[in-house]
Amino acid sequence: MKLGVNVDHIATVREARKTNEPDPVAAAVLAELGGADSIVVHLREDRRHIQDRDLKILRQTVNTRVNLEMAMSEEIAKIALAVKPDQVTFVPEKREEVTTEGGLNIIKNKKKVADFTNRFKKNKIPVSVFIDPDKDQLQAAKLAKVDMVELHTGDYANAPTPEQQQNEYLKLAEAAITARNMRVRVAAGHGLTYRNVLTITKILEIEELNIGHSIIARATMVGIERAVREMKGLINRK
Ligand code: PXP
Repeated sequence: MKLGVNVDHIATVREARKTNEPDPVAAAVLAELGGADSIVVHLREDRRHIQDRDLKILRQTVNTRVNLEMAMSEEIAKIALAVKPDQVTFVPEKREEVTTEGGLNIIKNKKKVADFTNRFKKNKIPVSVFIDPDKDQLQAAKLAKVDMVELHTGDYANAPTPEQQQNEYLKLAEAAITARNMRVRVAAGHGLTYRNVLTITKILEIEELNIGHSIIARATMVGIERAVREMKGLINRK
């Protein structure tokens, strides 16, 4: 199973100070050294983390694949078509949300999804759509001629009881099989952690998991001891 590493939150830390560190481009290099199969970034309309500059440099430096998550907005589409990532993933976007809150409603946005998909495919950029594990959404995605779906694992990850989590897991497993039967490639992501990811890896139809927050959170924790030691060593250097 492949791993796409989302480096948005490296940029979130940088933007907290509007400075130049930590750099998501450097993080992407290290993620690739660690075995990432793709680098995922979401250029949001409000630019709260990833900036246009990051996307442009990532395009030149990433050796695996750049998967750009984007809202179906004209402004972002123009940037994406100029930068030409290896893949785009259409996601819903609301300004006030903390993170992407659920799958894109393809049924409600049939024409727009089909038009945007067509535009990107004409430019030889494969298209994925982030959707809830729902048969009707899958069917609508297939009709819009997308190459891939990314199944939203957030409800599985945040389920309050083991029974509800099992229920959400079954929805994901069923949706993954349905998608493969329709000859649509399958990825999954959102809210996956070191604790809840193993069950998802049992769904063999899923070829790639896209994980951000949990990996970046862990990186700060496993790195803090060394970082403090280095600073302590520096200020006490004789
Ligand atoms: N997939 C999509 C479509 C997303 O929007 C996000 C969050 O940016 C992720 C995966 C990664 O989610 P998380 O940061 O919770 O791992």
